[in-house]
Amino acid sequence: MKNIFTFLFLLAYLTGHTQTGGPCEGCEAALEYNPETITNIDTLSGFSSNEPRLKISGIVYQKDGRTPAAGVILYIYHTNRSGIYPGIKGSGTWPRRHGKHRGWIKTNKDGRYTFYTFRPASYPNRQAPEHIHLTVKEPNKIPYYLDDYFFDDDPLLTTAERRSQRNRGGSGIVKTDKTKDGIIQIKRDIILGLNIPNYEN
Ligand SMILES: [Fe+2]
Repeated sequence: MKNIFTFLFLLAYLTGHTQTGGPCEGCEAALEYNPETITNIDTLSGFSSNEPRLKISGIVYQKDGRTPAAGVILYIYHTNRSGIYPGIKGSGTWPRRHGKHRGWIKTNKDGRYTFYTFRPASYPNRQAPEHIHLTVKEPNKIPYYLDDYFFDDDPLLTTAERRSQRNRGGSGIVKTDKTKDGIIQIKRDIILGLNIPNYEN
């Protein structure tokens, strides 16, 4: 019996560690978009009723870092202004666990994307910096996660925290110093496959 458990454990370990991006709990939530309505712009629930408001945009590039990547799904989710993921009761696993502040885009032919949302708060009673989770789904690949968005001016984003980032898809640390029409303008470009284990073109 023990051998069976060892075998199953090894199987789970090996399959998890050879897939694109390594193991990822919840990356499949990137697939929960509506194919009828998805575009390269999304506005998340709570955008108009929370502050500070954010416009997050950029270009997704292929692994060469130069060729725009079209038709790529990005999925983001984050906490509310109390640092909580406000789960949607009676819904599936990921709306419940990731909460209602989540959105999806599909890059256009120029690789461009935009999310309108608001700045999340850090978890209550914890020292984790404010962050927005990001998962990518490329055509013909399983979804994998990229570095979270972090805010350069966040006091909880310590030197140690910055150094611990793996820069999956490029750095997720963004500047907050530009505001237009009352909305902070966040820029982040993404390079597919960059620092992603088991990534194959
Ligand atoms: Fe989180």
